[in-house]
Amino acid sequence: MKPADFAFLRDFLRKESGQFIEENKIYLLKSRLEPLARRHSLEGLEALVAQVKARPRDTLARQVVEAMTTNETLFFRDKYPFDALSTVIFPELMQGMSPNGKIRIWSAACSRGQETYSIAMTAIQSVPSAERHIRILGTDIADAVLAYAEEGIYTQMEVQRGMPVKQLVRYFEQHEGTNWRIREELRTMISFRMANLIAADLAVGLRMHGPFDIVFCRNVMIYFDVEDRKKVIDKIAQTMNVGGYLITGTGELVKGEHSQWDTQRFEGRPIWKLKSK
Ligand SMILES: C[S@@+](CC[C@H](N)C(=O)[O-])C[C@H]1O[C@@H](n2cnc3c(N)ncnc32)[C@H](O)[C@@H]1O
Repeated sequence: MKPADFAFLRDFLRKESGQFIEENKIYLLKSRLEPLARRHSLEGLEALVAQVKARPRDTLARQVVEAMTTNETLFFRDKYPFDALSTVIFPELMQGMSPNGKIRIWSAACSRGQETYSIAMTAIQSVPSAERHIRILGTDIADAVLAYAEEGIYTQMEVQRGMPVKQLVRYFEQHEGTNWRIREELRTMISFRMANLIAADLAVGLRMHGPFDIVFCRNVMIYFDVEDRKKVIDKIAQTMNVGGYLITGTGELVKGEHSQWDTQRFEGRPIWKLKSK
């Protein structure tokens, strides 16, 4: 790949999605973007870059961003965030809640929805009348994974990764042979929409869904550099209630930079509580 094409893609991806590609990841650009170029009958990455440069707001440019996202996810990933919800966070937030009170939860960068549905299952098991009190928003930058999440149909392989059998039987029904479909009871608590964590107007765009009491922003900031992580965390704080909880992936916060947050430890892992806005 020509150095100028690499520099263009690196800067374009950082600006559009926060993803920071270092030079040793050129192979990733090639393996993900060459098939996209072929699908558009373009002769290689040089032609693809020329198109994106000429029309940075077109569908192809969006597809470049989407092709570079990593969507790996699973149900109840790492387990401890869901244990923290049921044993610490929900009991605390439910204290003194009015009969029509709501706990608003945002699964930022939800990928194919496994995190969002895991939160919903946890809520149903630990919050009385959860369907009345819990509202969950799942967002992602990538349209394809959002459509998948919205559909709520998972393969046998996907449900086998992380899902206890008891939950599978309780919250899913078999669908077309070996697939499993999420039951309506969970779906009604959740809505999905596109949101880019890097967008300057992120908080404004989510206003009608918030303010949030709990935000899951996990395994996405690892792809951002330190400066963008800090900006994203500040923007997330704007969408939340003081006293709300943020759960990130391990090591995704920037140490020493977040005076707004109290660190609490759950099973030895940090979770964050918003002290002030
Ligand atoms: C590795 S998955 C993590 C999914 C889930 N949070 C988990 O921990 O299992 C990362 C997700 O972040 C999304 N993503 C990447 N950049 C984003 C951005 N700037 N704004 C919103 N979502 C983004 C990707 O599309 C992908 O679905």
